[in-house]
Amino acid sequence: MGSLVLSLLSALLLAATITESEAFSKTVKKPYPGQKLEKLTHFHFYLHDIVTADKPTSVVVATGPASNSSATAFGMVAVVDDILTVGHEITSAEVGRAQGVFASTDQKNFSLLMTLNLVFTTGEFSGSTISLYGRNPIMSKVREMPIVGGTGAFRFGGGYAQAKTFTFNLTSGNAVIEYNVYIWH
Ligand SMILES: *[C@@H]1O[C@H](CO)[C@@H](O)[C@H](O)[C@H]1NC(C)=O
Ligand SMILES: *[C@@H]1O[C@H](CO)[C@@H](O)[C@H](O)[C@H]1NC(C)=O
Ligand SMILES: *[C@@H]1O[C@H](CO)[C@@H](O)[C@H](O)[C@H]1NC(C)=O
Repeated sequence: MGSLVLSLLSALLLAATITESEAFSKTVKKPYPGQKLEKLTHFHFYLHDIVTADKPTSVVVATGPASNSSATAFGMVAVVDDILTVGHEITSAEVGRAQGVFASTDQKNFSLLMTLNLVFTTGEFSGSTISLYGRNPIMSKVREMPIVGGTGAFRFGGGYAQAKTFTFNLTSGNAVIEYNVYIWH
């Protein structure tokens, strides 16, 4: 009698455990409902980082104790709402924005931690975003950074971005950066 109650109880407990784990996560094997084939999209655009203007697109919001005397601006943090255009001229068609935070995180080689959301405002990807997160050693010719995800058309997205300085005005500090972004989605 006692052992029957025990085994009933343990059966109930086991059932409860299974139900809980099923509620916590569920993996569906392919093909899953609404599955689409993965596509690779390549973007090519220019990013305008404007620090000196009536309305700068890039503003320094914090500096570390030695950022101003450091050759690599170590500790500097900037918030950006940079303009993305099809061509390299600022007057070229705007396709979106790069919104995020840059931080100078290298004491020896000038390098930025980049956390950017690429927000597209025109074309078939209007309203969708791509999230970029990585290290940008700005003195290098080509800098590669991971694409860690996205929204809308880019759900489950992943890929990489390559950035090349197109122009950098030493006097104003303004820069135009050429971007190639590859994303599976
Ligand atoms: C560094 O320079 C900026 C701009 O001139 C200034 O706002 C900031 O207070 C300076 N930081 C330090 C730690 O002196
Ligand atoms: C910094 O640059 C030097 C010289 O180019 C290189 O040897 C070193 O590996 C770099 N360090 C990092 C952390 O990238
Ligand atoms: C660089 O910036 C300075 C200061 O804003 C400006 O006078 C100059 O025309 C710029 N140079 C180029 C090549 O755009």
